[in-house]
Amino acid sequence: MPVELARVDQGAAVALLSVLTRHPQDGLPWIMELIVHGKAQGRGIGKSLAALAEDRFRAMGAERARLCTFEQMSSSREFWSALGWRAIRHNTRNENGQSVMVMEKSLVLA
Ligand SMILES: CC(C)(COP(=O)(O)OP(=O)(O)OC[C@H]1O[C@@H](n2cnc3c(N)ncnc32)[C@H](O)[C@@H]1OP(=O)(O)O)[C@@H](O)C(=O)NCCC(=O)NCCS
Repeated sequence: MPVELARVDQGAAVALLSVLTRHPQDGLPWIMELIVHGKAQGRGIGKSLAALAEDRFRAMGAERARLCTFEQMSSSREFWSALGWRAIRHNTRNENGQSVMVMEKSLVLA
């Protein structure tokens, strides 16, 4: 089931998080989209929304989660890597034929 959440700051939506609780192909939860408005970036909002998604996935009993990001978008790749996500598949095509990489993270707390 897709779920979307918006982070609102002083009445304006500044970020969007969209998740799929169970992907039809692998049965895992996926982060589908995380976008923080340019003016609100660098304030920890992306990190807190990613943590919120992980907490929700854990609460559902999931042990790992996935997402995909554009292969060429180094800023996004570096953001997810900094949060502990690791690439498991490179240069795969999304539904629009764009080159994306699939990343995965274990949700098991050490
Ligand atoms: C990528 C994005 C979601 C990050 O959100 P943000 O709110 O700006 O990031 P945060 O302020 O929460 O940063 C969290 C951590 O990641 C690091 N980080 C953020 N962007 C980074 C980048 N481009 N490269 C390296 N590290 C980065 C921060 O330094 C921070 O580290 P810290 O916790 O040690 O201080 C946001 O910049 C964005 O929406 N970009 C455009 C869309 C996009 O790329 N979405 C992701 C693919 S779906």
